[in-house]
Amino acid sequence: MRKILISLATAGFVATGAFAGDVAKQVDELAHKYGCSGCHSVDKVVAGPPYRVIAKEYKGKPNAKETLVKSILSGSMMKWQAKAKKYGIKIKMAYMPAQHGVNKEKAEKIVDLILKLETK
Ligand code: HEC
Repeated sequence: MRKILISLATAGFVATGAFAGDVAKQVDELAHKYGCSGCHSVDKVVAGPPYRVIAKEYKGKPNAKETLVKSILSGSMMKWQAKAKKYGIKIKMAYMPAQHGVNKEKAEKIVDLILKLETK
C-alpha cells in the first residue's frame, strides 16, 4: 500500500485525497510510537484536542511550530478550555504533562505533520 501511495505521489497525484489521507496516517503512526495516542487522535477527542482541530487553530499563525513544540516538551495548561468552546468540543483534561518520551527533533517532526493535516 505504501509503495502504491508513493508511486502515485511521484506520478504527480500529490494533491489527491490519497495523499491527504497519508498525512493523517503518518500523524497516527508517530503518535502511537511517541506515546501520545492515549490522549489524542486525529479526529476524535480522547483526553486532549484532536490533531485536526489543533491544525485548524494554528495553521498560518506566526510561531505555530515553536508554540506547539514548546507545549509538547514543557507541557500545556488550560489553553484549550476556551478554544474548545470555539470548536464545539469538550476537552476532558485541563493540562498536558511535559512529554519526556520525545526530544525536540521528534516533537518538531510530529508538529510539522500535524500542521500539514487537511482542514476545512
Ligand atoms: C496525558 C494526556 C496527554 C498526552 C500523553 C499527550 N497529550 Fe497533548 N494535550 C493533552 C491535553 C489535555 C491538551 C490540552 C492542554 C491545554 O488545554 O493547554 C493537549 C494539547 C496538545 C497540543 C496543543 C498545545 C497548544 O499549545 O495548543 C499539542 C500539539 C499536543 N497536545 C501534542 C501532543 C503530542 C505530540 C503528544 C505525544 C508526544 C501528546 N500531546 C501527548 C493531553 C495529552
